[in-house]
Amino acid sequence: MLKYFLYILLAAAAIGLAAGGFHLYRVAQKNKKEMAPYMKGEIRVDRRFGKVLVVYYSLSGQTRKIADIIREKTGADVYEIKTVEKIDTTPWFYLTLRKQLKTGKYPNISENLPDFAKYDIIFVGSPIWWYTAATPVLSFLEKADFLGRKVVPFSTQGSNYGTFFEDFAGKAQNAQILKGQSFNNLSAEYDRAVDNKISDWLNKL
Ligand SMILES: Cc1cc2nc3c(=O)[nH]c(=O)nc-3n(C[C@H](O)[C@H](O)[C@H](O)COP(=O)(O)O)c2cc1C
Repeated sequence: MLKYFLYILLAAAAIGLAAGGFHLYRVAQKNKKEMAPYMKGEIRVDRRFGKVLVVYYSLSGQTRKIADIIREKTGADVYEIKTVEKIDTTPWFYLTLRKQLKTGKYPNISENLPDFAKYDIIFVGSPIWWYTAATPVLSFLEKADFLGRKVVPFSTQGSNYGTFFEDFAGKAQNAQILKGQSFNNLSAEYDRAVDNKISDWLNKL
């Protein structure tokens, strides 16, 4: 009996591994195709935006990286969303964060919000958590009144941004939403392509 149970367990693990491997392969192929047009040459930002603010939250650095490139290309001021209590990355933190999303009990964020009235355009960047915005960004959106300013959302994620852009548009108060952009986490070989993708997006805003 135990023998059969072990066989079933092994078979389930093998199927899980194969499915995971196939998913990673499909994501890599999709990334390659999406980034191909940006791999060569250098796209420069050929327009001005007035006074720009980049707001972002980042737990592990990916969103900060994109925010930094936008800052460089637009001369923006930066506001980093920080939580009052540190979000610890325990092995079960994925579930803790999911619970925050489900209950709407988002973490408190520190520091006062920036003065949005000073800016012509405001970029807001979030990691994707469970197919939507990270809870500190949701906390930020609950507090922020964008005073009719142009607001541009962007996300970073493994591969699936879910309903982030719709959710963001529904929660950004008094914002004139412009076309956002999403960025899958990519290896360093794509750095130039990511840079070009950002310039192309900024030029088309
Ligand atoms: C709690 C949690 C949930 C996540 N959910 C998703 C998801 O639904 N889809 C996805 O593609 N990536 C998901 N990720 C991966 C992150 O979106 C991705 O690594 C992101 O770039 C991290 O940004 P950061 O380094 O700025 O924190 C999740 C990560 C965490 C920690």
